[in-house]
Amino acid sequence: MKHKLLIGVIFLALASPAQAGPRETIMELLAAEAQVANSSYSGFSAAAGEALFLATFTTGKPETTSCTTCHTNSPSNVGETRAGKPIDPMATSVTPDRYTDQAKVDKWFRRNCNSVLGRECTAQEKGDFLTFMINQ
Ligand code: HEC
Repeated sequence: MKHKLLIGVIFLALASPAQAGPRETIMELLAAEAQVANSSYSGFSAAAGEALFLATFTTGKPETTSCTTCHTNSPSNVGETRAGKPIDPMATSVTPDRYTDQAKVDKWFRRNCNSVLGRECTAQEKGDFLTFMINQ
């Protein structure tokens, strides 16, 4: 499993353009992971990412039923934590340094997916979500 993932990452790294930045690397890793998890993986979908962003779940914490609870229903808006602290917009066109730090992306996907969905997000879901936000 690990091995297959590594091969996928190496393949994608070689196949991608030379000046890939940290965000491209994060996307490549997710694509490799999604491919390992599902042999019929056929890429990420911004529409699926938007649907995930807007969806309401009943499987997580009752006070956080959706990503929009904190991030608002528009990626261009400033969001708000439960404690009332502002959260920079999720759209990369408004907040250009979004999704460029692997540890930050991992940490917040883990925390927020567990709160909202009651489980971790899959690589497919994370890739779809980021594809949507990167195109906003
Ligand atoms: C309880 C409030 C809350 C909810 C609900 C929430 N988030 Fe967040 N999210 C935050 C905070 C706070 C941060 C970190 C601050 C920041 O990045 O500006 C963050 C950051 C993130 C990041 C990292 C952004 C980066 O720049 O790397 C991702 C990815 C993310 N959230 C995805 C999601 C997804 C997907 C959902 C729904 C499943 C969700 N969030 C729901 C509060 C929330």
